[in-house]
Amino acid sequence: MGVKLPATLFCCISLFVLLNEVSHVESTRRLTSDGAFHWYNGLFVFGDSFADTGNSPKSNLSEVTRQWYKPYGISHGFLGDPTGRFSNSYVQSDFIAKILGRSQAPQTFRDTKDSYSDHFGVNFAVGGAGVFEVPRKAPTLAMQIDSFKKMADAGDIIRKWQLEQSVALVAISGNDYARVAKMSNDTEILAFIGNVTDEMAKGVQRLQELGVTKILVNTLHPLGCTPWQARPSNYTKCMGRGNMAAELHNGDLEQKLNATNSNSSVYLLDLSKAFTNIIDPSDPHDVPEVAKKFKEKLKPCCKSFDPNGYCGQVDEDGGDQYSVCSDPENHFFWDDVHPTHAGWEAVMKQLEQGLKDFLHITY
Ligand SMILES: *[C@@H]1O[C@H](CO)[C@@H](O)[C@H](O)[C@H]1NC(C)=O
Ligand SMILES: *[C@@H]1O[C@H](CO)[C@@H](O)[C@H](O)[C@H]1NC(C)=O
Ligand SMILES: *[C@@H]1O[C@H](CO)[C@@H](O)[C@H](O)[C@H]1NC(C)=O
Ligand SMILES: *[C@@H]1O[C@H](CO)[C@@H](O)[C@H](O)[C@H]1NC(C)=O
Ligand SMILES: *[C@@H]1O[C@H](CO)[C@@H](O)[C@H](O)[C@H]1NC(C)=O
Ligand SMILES: *[C@@H]1O[C@H](CO)[C@@H](O)[C@H](O)[C@H]1NC(C)=O
Repeated sequence: MGVKLPATLFCCISLFVLLNEVSHVESTRRLTSDGAFHWYNGLFVFGDSFADTGNSPKSNLSEVTRQWYKPYGISHGFLGDPTGRFSNSYVQSDFIAKILGRSQAPQTFRDTKDSYSDHFGVNFAVGGAGVFEVPRKAPTLAMQIDSFKKMADAGDIIRKWQLEQSVALVAISGNDYARVAKMSNDTEILAFIGNVTDEMAKGVQRLQELGVTKILVNTLHPLGCTPWQARPSNYTKCMGRGNMAAELHNGDLEQKLNATNSNSSVYLLDLSKAFTNIIDPSDPHDVPEVAKKFKEKLKPCCKSFDPNGYCGQVDEDGGDQYSVCSDPENHFFWDDVHPTHAGWEAVMKQLEQGLKDFLHITY
């Protein structure tokens, strides 16, 4: 376990080691398979950088503010500038919003303090967050839910009728596991995994009690296959133990959320499977269709020169300390922990039908 952890980790850590859509109070109405209209009035997003669309304020460039600097956000049309997303363009919460018929993730919580122009929901997710406090002090899942509760109780921004047909996304992608590096043995680590999944289940239960109708919870992706774990092998290999730990986390989560119950209001979005199909297929001779477009599966598009540096880093003279690929659409990973826009698209494409079935959306 002598793995050196980078100074600050954003989304995902191995064990070992959204422009506001100017549309108004308009729900997405669609015919369901049983012939009734089905619509959702709100999307509420919680979690970390997989879902954050600009909740951390922009400040001087550092590893924790890099999402506000180039080359973040360089791709895709109107987004062409950094938006506070940890990607070259969109992130997971945007793709979920698209499935609900919107053009991108709902307004950030931070922006609602100035004006609330979205009327479709709020994104509370903050890069670096976990269920427990992290050194960087990104608000925990529970704190994000506190903010949501306050807005729901006040009833002026988040309305009761909105909650009655609403979807929540809980994107907890492994920041808590940074502290595992300091743990002495497997027993302690297993106990900690149990504690993390307990906290997630508590959060989900609170959302249910607050009246959210449908709750999507990400499973943990294969942590050992993130570029910063694969860098020592020149991006040729995943680190198995991180993946094992993610599987333990996912098994626990499934049990505690009762998500296999067919009536459940909770749905596990299986990022583990969707990522693995692309970046670590069990049969390398039978690569799934969705994986074929990715020329680079473990090597990130944006790569810092220094293994402990970060995408977007510059030296004192303003010289770039990173390189950016010319074809982000052929790379699954954008930086050392986050997928590209194309990566997210390929992940969400695999999960879309299951998600629509769960939400009774038929289009
Ligand atoms: C940001 O950088 C400027 C110029 O180097 C400096 O004066 C300022 O104190 C920095 N702000 C913060 C919050 O570190
Ligand atoms: C594991 O570590 C914990 C905390 O340091 C300790 O209490 C426990 O006895 C250890 N268990 C084993 C099997 O070594
Ligand atoms: C897990 O939570 C329990 C109860 O809060 C606590 O006593 C224990 O120290 C935690 N274990 C770890 C490894 O964090
Ligand atoms: C990675 O690539 C570099 C440069 O090509 C090489 O020097 C190094 O030995 C390689 N490391 C591994 C683990 O293959
Ligand atoms: C799962 O089911 C158990 C037993 O019915 C219940 O105590 C628990 O609160 C449920 N968890 C969630 C997240 O709904
Ligand atoms: C599903 O919900 C229906 C209606 O509320 C109930 O009758 C049924 O027992 C539930 N099934 C399960 C597996 O919980």
